[in-house]
Amino acid sequence: MTNLSYTTEVAEATAPIYEILKDQFEEKYWETLAPYVYEINRLKKEKNAVILAHNYMTPDIFHGVADIVGDSLALARAAAKSDADIIVQCGVHFMAETSKALCMNKKVLIPDMKAGCSLAESITAKDIALLREKYPNVPVITYVNSSAEVKAASDICCTSGNAVKIVNSMDSDTVLMIPDKYLADYTRQHTTKKVLTWEGSCMVHERFTPEDIKKFREKHDGIQVIAHPECPKDVLDEADFTGSTQQMIEYVENERPPRVVLITECSMSDNVAAANPDMELIRPCQMCPHMKRITLPKILKALQTEEPEVFLDPAIAEASRIPIQKMLDLS
Ligand code: 13P
Ligand code: SF4
Repeated sequence: MTNLSYTTEVAEATAPIYEILKDQFEEKYWETLAPYVYEINRLKKEKNAVILAHNYMTPDIFHGVADIVGDSLALARAAAKSDADIIVQCGVHFMAETSKALCMNKKVLIPDMKAGCSLAESITAKDIALLREKYPNVPVITYVNSSAEVKAASDICCTSGNAVKIVNSMDSDTVLMIPDKYLADYTRQHTTKKVLTWEGSCMVHERFTPEDIKKFREKHDGIQVIAHPECPKDVLDEADFTGSTQQMIEYVENERPPRVVLITECSMSDNVAAANPDMELIRPCQMCPHMKRITLPKILKALQTEEPEVFLDPAIAEASRIPIQKMLDLS
């Protein structure tokens, strides 16, 4: 049985992490988290494991145990380069599949197998076959928020950080950009190509409205509004900057607006606030229930048991690796 007490050793080892997180967690609560942080970090070293964590992980994971943090593109790049024996993917299932496809010789764990995604579930490989019949010779650009099977049926992948670049690089005047209709709307505004799409959307970002943004501006003088391209077009029209989660973070850290609101999943604002205590972040909470399935106790259990492991059919893995790799080569 692992000792998960808040001992002096745990307190001392986790003190630098608590220094970053002290505005996020009260001390009494931190005492319940710190033993997990300590044990996860110890076990990671023992097993030569690496924790890849998406920007939507809660601050205890993001600042406490992650080795690499970032957007979908950064995590895919990190997986491709990793020399760890075990990858623990702290994010949703399609991210773990991408890591597995890029590292078939490694053990890829996801702390909760049920961590899905409304966008990824909106399309199947069969749907792509039908789209190809309807639009012959039109290249299929697939957002990485999709299953490995869907990626395997695609010509190239993209992320929210490189969608415009990928579309503009295509040797065709018309492209199919699936499955996120809002990312397609955003891309259409930054290209001369005809962008066809699919009826998929993210259940988190589609909840934001232009009225929300108008209210933030009325209530908070001089506020900068930074939005993710999975938001509807009328929301993005009201924003000062649009980009992937990593691009949103880079924007606020470079521009350092004194007041800012991030129109995206709420843990990201908590993580940015912890790293930038001088910045005033207005924090609306639109939470992704899939991302929130990943918790410290589940990460510890995954490391201890080396389960649940993500498996991919080798043929699907190989076929999905081609469009992912094409994207990585172009980014
Ligand atoms: P990025 O971090 O790649 O911008 O993606 C956002 C997202 O919704 C991931 O599920
Ligand atoms: Fe999927 Fe949206 Fe959650 Fe990202 S935030 S995992 S796109 S439902």
